[in-house]
Amino acid sequence: MHAALAGPLLAALLATARARPQPPDGGQCRPPGSQRDLNSFLWTIRRDPPAYLFGTIHVPYTRVWDFIPDNSKAAFQASAHVYFELDLTDPYTISALASCQLLPHGENLQDVLPRELYWRLKRHLDYVKLMMPSWMTPAQRGRGLYADYLFNAIAGNWERKRPVWVMLMVNSLTERDVRFRGVPVLDLYLAQQAEKMKKTTGAVEQVEEQCHPLNNGLNFSQVLFALNQTLLQQESVRAGSLQASYTTEDLIKHYNCGDLSAVIFNHDTSQLPNFINTTLPPHEQVTAQEIDSYFRQELIYKRNERMGKRVMALLRENEDKICFFAFGAGHFLGNNTVIDILRQAGLEVDHTPAGQAIHSPAPQSPAPSPEGTLTSPAPVTPAAAVPEAPSVTPTTPPEDEDPALSPHLLLPDSLSQLEEFGRQRKWHKRQSTHQRPRQFNDLWVRIEDSDPKRSVLLNLYYRHGH
Ligand SMILES: *[C@@H]1O[C@H](CO)[C@@H](O)[C@H](O)[C@H]1NC(C)=O
Ligand SMILES: *[C@@H]1O[C@H](CO)[C@@H](O)[C@H](O)[C@H]1NC(C)=O
Ligand SMILES: *[C@@H]1O[C@H](CO)[C@@H](O)[C@H](O)[C@H]1NC(C)=O
Ligand SMILES: *[C@@H]1O[C@H](CO)[C@@H](O)[C@H](O)[C@H]1NC(C)=O
Repeated sequence: MHAALAGPLLAALLATARARPQPPDGGQCRPPGSQRDLNSFLWTIRRDPPAYLFGTIHVPYTRVWDFIPDNSKAAFQASAHVYFELDLTDPYTISALASCQLLPHGENLQDVLPRELYWRLKRHLDYVKLMMPSWMTPAQRGRGLYADYLFNAIAGNWERKRPVWVMLMVNSLTERDVRFRGVPVLDLYLAQQAEKMKKTTGAVEQVEEQCHPLNNGLNFSQVLFALNQTLLQQESVRAGSLQASYTTEDLIKHYNCGDLSAVIFNHDTSQLPNFINTTLPPHEQVTAQEIDSYFRQELIYKRNERMGKRVMALLRENEDKICFFAFGAGHFLGNNTVIDILRQAGLEVDHTPAGQAIHSPAPQSPAPSPEGTLTSPAPVTPAAAVPEAPSVTPTTPPEDEDPALSPHLLLPDSLSQLEEFGRQRKWHKRQSTHQRPRQFNDLWVRIEDSDPKRSVLLNLYYRHGH
């Protein structure tokens, strides 16, 4: 599995490890000829009604939407319940993600980092701030996005962050990535759509589950190593001696038109990071390898196991509902995937190629599916839980409706970097309460924006208990 598909963090680390010259259009590929030619990241869990697994990606949805097969979109539409890794539409989730990135005890990076590294970091961020206005696109400016605001939103509190998060942030502050700020990433977009369509939404992971391994897993020298390598790379780009590596573009290309087996194969050949254009000294190779293995283990394999278990629990709790699980595509590719976990537990999970009809529930008039793959009539579900009858072909084109720059879109790297982990936590979000009575507490959560004037208070319900 290509690590980048599995998580921004790995992507960031490995990008650091494998900067290589690439054409600036690295992310482009031909528009789809026909549905059947599209990559499909959809799997169907055989049950009645069915459930779906869908591999998302943490990039602006507009970059990939046209490459997502109609049947994947139809499965989403047909689903009454939609689950993500983390619930990114929940303000509590976002604020918890932001605060878990901070150094403890009010510490400052200057207190923590070696002097030289601190000053290099500061110099680099000064440069980014200076460049930001020229990096932004007219479209971004047209939406009222200002460079100062954007910089502050992403990096305003950098001195308070833990080094590992600063490392991730630096990775997301490239010209390429900045140009796409303000457009929801695919997973967030799906979450927004699900809410809009009044689906029941939920998450399978908690913020802490994502944050903890990052905050506590690597020792200080490993973190310094990663930060140093990240800065070295960015400094080379600044100096013009290294072309920016378009990790995000690569990722988009793989997702849209990559050969999946090649993507998976790549995983096994990429074990030894190759920094910039030189070979790392042996002890640094070892460090890079250890970091890579640590994250693979903690952020992929362990999570896959946990996610698989929670998927099963949710399926049991919602036997009569069509469920849709949208997780990072990397959790479905490669070794020890969520799918493997489900299959080991006895579930039947099949890949659903583009162009293949999905089981379409027709609540009002049950009809056999065209290809006869699943001919049992759709179960009777409470009308309220069922969205409008899904049509197999028409899919909502990505309207440019909402770039309403919701504050959390711009919160510090919440989206670009964290999501993979971020989404994982099974958030106790405002879930629909109709299944069983639950205790709710009112809780006021302050969403910290770097601009205090924009701090907002949001009322949300936080469910106690399990
Ligand atoms: C950090 O962890 C690595 C790998 O486990 C180990 O080799 C190294 O000695 C540790 N460094 C410190 C300072 O603990
Ligand atoms: C950063 O990495 C370079 C090259 O590997 C090394 O020479 C330098 O000492 C490192 N700096 C820090 C602060 O670790
Ligand atoms: C490799 O790095 C050196 C020094 O950083 C640079 O002068 C040289 O042009 C680089 N070579 C390539 C092929 O990028
Ligand atoms: C994938 O599984 C195979 C067989 O167990 C193993 O040899 C290989 O190292 C695994 N790859 C990773 C990255 O764990």
